[in-house]
Amino acid sequence: MKPIIRKRKKEDSQELAHCIATVWNTTYKGIVDDDLLTNLLNGETENAERLKNNINSQSNYYVLTLDNKIIGWVYFTLENKEYENAAEIHSLYILKEYQKNGYGKLLYDYATQKILNHGIKKIIIGCLNGNPANDFYKHLGGKYIGNRLFRDKYLENIYLFEL
Ligand SMILES: CC(C)(COP(=O)(O)OP(=O)(O)OC[C@H]1O[C@@H](n2cnc3c(N)ncnc32)[C@H](O)[C@@H]1OP(=O)(O)O)[C@@H](O)C(=O)NCCC(=O)NCCS
Repeated sequence: MKPIIRKRKKEDSQELAHCIATVWNTTYKGIVDDDLLTNLLNGETENAERLKNNINSQSNYYVLTLDNKIIGWVYFTLENKEYENAAEIHSLYILKEYQKNGYGKLLYDYATQKILNHGIKKIIIGCLNGNPANDFYKHLGGKYIGNRLFRDKYLENIYLFEL
């Protein structure tokens, strides 16, 4: 079945909250505190509600589906708090069982094209230290430009993409 990328809808919220909890647990075990991961699993209903409520403020949020099932998502904003004239990709995730099939690159290219359509030629992406995805971003041409703390605690590397 062909992958489809589309804007997320309110009706996706419960499924998306489940996907987020799942992928965080497969990605960040040993990188963030176990409590944070358990809370995500236990708090899926609340997270689904939050996703439903902020659908209008998160307009650049896209899901990737296969056979009507969400298998990945990307969320970006056209600006960010720290770097001038740069968009930021805040989330780029593929469920574990679908990784390494080109879907991450597909979502990255999709977001990049949307950002370029707004005349923005720089993108930053933060990636937690210790996450293998750091190498994915380097592979795609991201240049390490510094770091910051995620949730005041976890070191996050920042990559700059010049399009
Ligand atoms: C990181 C992630 C988005 C990559 O998506 P993916 O679908 O697995 O990657 P793709 O199959 O699209 O790979 C595209 C290219 O990157 C390479 N690549 C993928 N993962 C890589 C990694 N961890 N390190 C180095 N290169 C990697 C692939 O080999 C491929 O190279 P090629 O185009 O030269 O053949 C995905 O693995 C993921 O969701 N990981 C868990 C969540 C996560 O960490 N997200 C990032 C949060 S900051």
